[in-house]
Amino acid sequence: MNIAVIYSSKTGNTRKVAEAIHSSLPDGAILHDVTNAPTPTDYDLIFMGFWVDKGTANLEAQEYMKQLNGQRVALFATLGAYPDSDHAKQCLTNAADLVPTCTVVDTFICQGAIDPKLIEWMKTLPANDPHGPNDDRRKLWADAESHPDEMDLARATNWVLQVSQ
Ligand SMILES: Cc1cc2nc3c(=O)[nH]c(=O)nc-3n(C[C@H](O)[C@H](O)[C@H](O)COP(=O)(O)O)c2cc1C
Repeated sequence: MNIAVIYSSKTGNTRKVAEAIHSSLPDGAILHDVTNAPTPTDYDLIFMGFWVDKGTANLEAQEYMKQLNGQRVALFATLGAYPDSDHAKQCLTNAADLVPTCTVVDTFICQGAIDPKLIEWMKTLPANDPHGPNDDRRKLWADAESHPDEMDLARATNWVLQVSQ
């Protein structure tokens, strides 16, 4: 079986998860950033990684996902929100909708540190704005800061074993 790990990462969080996934796959599996990834037609199973941008896969990942057609796809992602939140589930559903001809075999998501520039901007918003600063949101930003951590990467590698079975 030909396996590819293809990912998009702006600040490095999703790249770390992609590398952990790749390291637990059999020899021969390839790892590529979407910007220099081969066409997906030669691969039976694609681990497709993205960072969550406004509730769905980031645009560069979406561009690559448009080329996916009929493959088995394992979606993985990082996001600022908690991975067990409804928002996280919705983001994965939204991403799965982007590959309608593929079989989504499984999904994995974990938190990833939010770009400090984005946090600075969100701090300038009114407290009642959906992204504005309040106690819960400040806690979320602080909680995200250390992710993906060793535990997330271990979870990702365990997930690979589950998907490849
Ligand atoms: C422009 C922008 C939009 C984002 N939108 C969301 C979002 O809708 N939901 C969320 O939980 N996190 C959101 N985030 C946080 C990122 O998904 C998160 O920090 C991710 O781990 C970044 O991954 P990367 O380091 O691979 O680029 C956003 C970040 C940026 C910069």
